[in-house]
Amino acid sequence: MNQRISTRKFSEMARNGEKIVMLTCYDASFAAVMEGAGVEILLIGDSLGMVVQGHNSTLPVTMEQMVYHTQCVARGSQRAMVLADLPFGSYQESPQQAFRNAAQLMAAGAQMVKLEGGESMAATVEFLTSRGIPVCSHLGLTPQSVHQLGGYRVQGRGEAEQARMLEESRMHQEAGASMLLFEAVPRELAGRITAVLAIPTIGIGAGVDCSGQVLVMHDMLDVFPGKKARFVRNFMQGAGSVGEAVAAYVKAVKDKSFPALEHTFSVQPG
Ligand code: KIV
Repeated sequence: MNQRISTRKFSEMARNGEKIVMLTCYDASFAAVMEGAGVEILLIGDSLGMVVQGHNSTLPVTMEQMVYHTQCVARGSQRAMVLADLPFGSYQESPQQAFRNAAQLMAAGAQMVKLEGGESMAATVEFLTSRGIPVCSHLGLTPQSVHQLGGYRVQGRGEAEQARMLEESRMHQEAGASMLLFEAVPRELAGRITAVLAIPTIGIGAGVDCSGQVLVMHDMLDVFPGKKARFVRNFMQGAGSVGEAVAAYVKAVKDKSFPALEHTFSVQPG
């Protein structure tokens, strides 16, 4: 059996200042290309609802679909960590519901599951991690709450919000989360939280000071139609193949040239 990269290795990389490279992935062929280009974590994101299925949010994605895509990605890769999203409605009801569904994703080939939410999810994280399921907690802009948040907007600009995000990050670390993912969070805040935590942080629109980065593959390969978020860079530009584009992304994350300032948000709007 091939050994996949473990949570322990990611903590070590974060401690040593080596950036962690994550990319979303939904099938076996892309998994092989991404792994070959040096991606260390393949995220089967529920973004598949938008970029693969054509919905206008992630909300319709089902457990059955997440299991299927997780199996595909696991079959196509050998070394990268496989991280799978718990979709909307599959974990919010109770820690027991979360465990049942997380166990299905682990059986499908995931080594870690991701869930969205702050304080209200800390007990669920504790329930999962104390039963052997590694968790990545997604904070900041949590797309499954798009209707509650009033749109896809930057989170954590106000002082109270910043204090809350720091507190929730600590809670999730305490609860046993192996990793935090910050989406659309001011770079100053993500950097400050990363500096005080012992676990790695992954940013998407959260600045270069996170322990690593993630992008949605359809965005960075420039195949998703429609408006691009500020934090997206088109890595197909200048690349001769998908493999080259992914390798350019890996290099840019490792040498910290991505994200540049223009891909980030500040606590000061503008
Ligand atoms: O679903 C997804 O692809 C994600 C990324 C935006 C981080 O959660």
